[in-house]
Amino acid sequence: MKILEVKDYSELSKVAAEIFAAEIIHNPKIVLGFATGSTPIGMYQELIKKYNSGIISFEECQSINLDEYCGIGKDNKQSYTYFMHEKLFSKIDIKEKNIYIPNGLNENIKEECDRYDKIIKELGKIDIQILGIGNNGHIGFNEPGTKFSGNTTQVKLTANTIEANKRFFDKKEEVPKKAYTMGIKGVMNSKKILLLASGINKSNIVYKMITGDITPTIPASILQLHPNVILVADEEALKKLKSAFPEKIKKINEK
Ligand code: F6R
Repeated sequence: MKILEVKDYSELSKVAAEIFAAEIIHNPKIVLGFATGSTPIGMYQELIKKYNSGIISFEECQSINLDEYCGIGKDNKQSYTYFMHEKLFSKIDIKEKNIYIPNGLNENIKEECDRYDKIIKELGKIDIQILGIGNNGHIGFNEPGTKFSGNTTQVKLTANTIEANKRFFDKKEEVPKKAYTMGIKGVMNSKKILLLASGINKSNIVYKMITGDITPTIPASILQLHPNVILVADEEALKKLKSAFPEKIKKINEK
């Protein structure tokens, strides 16, 4: 894993967008893997700036998202489909037909998971996948205990995740209890992973993910085995790792 330490969230957003944009320029027909949550929002704003300046175009890109809440549709402001359109897709030239996000309204779990896995298979490998990390180590909505070999699945969100995500809702009770998520297998099949972490509340989990055992208890720990992960993290998110293992960071940085 390559660790890029940046000063703060603003720098993180710029650096991540640079890395992402370089991939699009290199391969305009690229398959992009998107995440939601608050961490990538700044990066999406930077990508929009690059699009507006004519540096990048998404016209030929395919895009696939990690996850979607169950029980709410694309017109619901809390859905990840709405989020992606509001924060990025409506402001760039990506074609609607090239956007893939699980359908949270499909109550037939098997049908929806099979449909999404078929899309993942047909798209081929995701060229670059953006990931955030949950405080409990989840990636996508693959909560602690998820099998590393799993495909797309419907998950029951943990109390920790509901607590962390309630900030996007008027009331905690409104946070959906279930979600569809791409499995860890799909994530690990990506050619390159750009993992983003910002803020002091990620410091502990970043430390555990990198220095701890590879265990389903910390789903993100599997990323230690991926050959091409870049962690872009700010000083606060790297605080614990740096103070406990300054040499380790140096070593990882040297990789
Ligand atoms: C959302 C997703 C989640 C988030 C994670 C961190 O698509 O994949 O795993 O990345 O919950 O969320 P933030 O960025 O809000 O801290």
